[in-house]
Amino acid sequence: STAGASSAAARTAAGDPGDGEQGGGRSHTANAVLISVVAAIGGFLFGFDTAVINGAVDALSGDFELSPGLTGFAVSSALLGCATGAWFAGGAADRFGRPKVMIIASVLFTASAIGSGLAFGVWDLILWRVVGGLGVGTASVIAPAYIAEIAPAAIRGRLGSLQQLAIVTGIFVALLSDAFLAGAAGGAAEELWLGLTAWRWMFLSELVPAVAYGLLALTIPESPRFLVARGEDRRARTVLLRLMSGESARERIDAIKKSLQGQKAVGLSNLRGAALGLQPIVWVGIALSLFQQLVGINVIFYYSTTLWRSVGFEESDALTVTVITSVTNVAVTVVAILLVDRIGRRPLLLIGSTAMTAALATMAVCFSQATGSGEDVSLAEPWSTVALVAANVFVVGFGVSWGPVVWVLLGEMFPNRLRAPALAVAAAAQWVANFAVSTTFPWLSENAGLAVTYGGYAAFALLSGLFVATVVQETKGRELEDMTGETGRRRKDLVGST
Ligand code: GLC
Repeated sequence: STAGASSAAARTAAGDPGDGEQGGGRSHTANAVLISVVAAIGGFLFGFDTAVINGAVDALSGDFELSPGLTGFAVSSALLGCATGAWFAGGAADRFGRPKVMIIASVLFTASAIGSGLAFGVWDLILWRVVGGLGVGTASVIAPAYIAEIAPAAIRGRLGSLQQLAIVTGIFVALLSDAFLAGAAGGAAEELWLGLTAWRWMFLSELVPAVAYGLLALTIPESPRFLVARGEDRRARTVLLRLMSGESARERIDAIKKSLQGQKAVGLSNLRGAALGLQPIVWVGIALSLFQQLVGINVIFYYSTTLWRSVGFEESDALTVTVITSVTNVAVTVVAILLVDRIGRRPLLLIGSTAMTAALATMAVCFSQATGSGEDVSLAEPWSTVALVAANVFVVGFGVSWGPVVWVLLGEMFPNRLRAPALAVAAAAQWVANFAVSTTFPWLSENAGLAVTYGGYAAFALLSGLFVATVVQETKGRELEDMTGETGRRRKDLVGST
């Protein structure tokens, strides 16, 4: 509006670039969005790198003559790299600064793209997949921490959810790129360009986002929380002025300082003690991470073909359904972005847990009616339709809640001093849980059956809701400096009313 613009002009003339929502403040918000988008490219690579193997795995296991066991390990070994990368990212973030760690991740992604694409044999490939995993794990820690640290409190949930939007977009683009390259070559195992087979180009195509990520990371500012912790108040102020008014920046620096005073520094050396021995809030972060994985979401993504075949799709249609599911996941993440700063984190998680529990329990009931086992499970009508609907309700329920919200919470729920190491421990736990769930799924479905397996995930979904109801605090609208590390519902009174 004209009034808003002129008051902003007046403020600018007075040396105050304005604040938050109106007038000239729009550029502050725009800066925060742009900076967050760059950081979220790490999420894109996270999604791309974890999904790219899908289209390549059959062809490469043919080329390298792999046993099923070794094929499985070639797929899942990257997750161990992710856990390791996450674990070390916290210390690196506190030592070198946030954008520098993004550059390290970019180098890891770049090396992995080239190494995996040109691998001589399976162990060579596994090595480079693990290197890519180190990048994924690193990106999974640095993006939520950094975004939370630069975001204005009122839109921190939205900006934090960009990370998940980028992850699911990365998954989607990897599936598309795999399909395109296989199509262009006439099969993933066929030669494409420069004498290299299509599956090699699937890995090589990751070079583009990997390099872009590193170059863009050079353009974003250091986190003001990191700078104040290092005593670099002037630089912190310069960064904050891109995000808020002079007045607010001064107040923020004081608040950050105060929040740091009460807390003992947590170095990498005493990280284990600090994180595992002393702080209940870190256990809350770990539990959120574990629940996010133990509901079995990645079973749907990693073993989708088997699932869709069991409800009656042909092999070729199964890929289409996988793509549709991944588009759905992108769409519902947008819904989460619209809701997370309005209705808050707790309500979203509770809604998600309820939907997931119902959907997973329904799937368990459907699969109790299945014939065959393992890869050859199949369902008759009406069970197959019900299972198909339930699986999609599960994906929607997860995508609107636990998918994005856990990353948002992990970025914002810890006190300043503890953020990087605590997030690192929680994210590492998440990768270990991801590994455990996805490697046990084939065995469980074969030996315990899908009804029991999905029943187990349903039980975790139910527990996840109870956990949120009793332990997790709302963080919507609160400043990071107000995150004292207390757990339980006691401090609900601190929640802003908007
Ligand atoms: C979350 C999970 C990740 C999963 C993705 C799927 O980002 O952390 O493991 O693959 O959601 O949407």
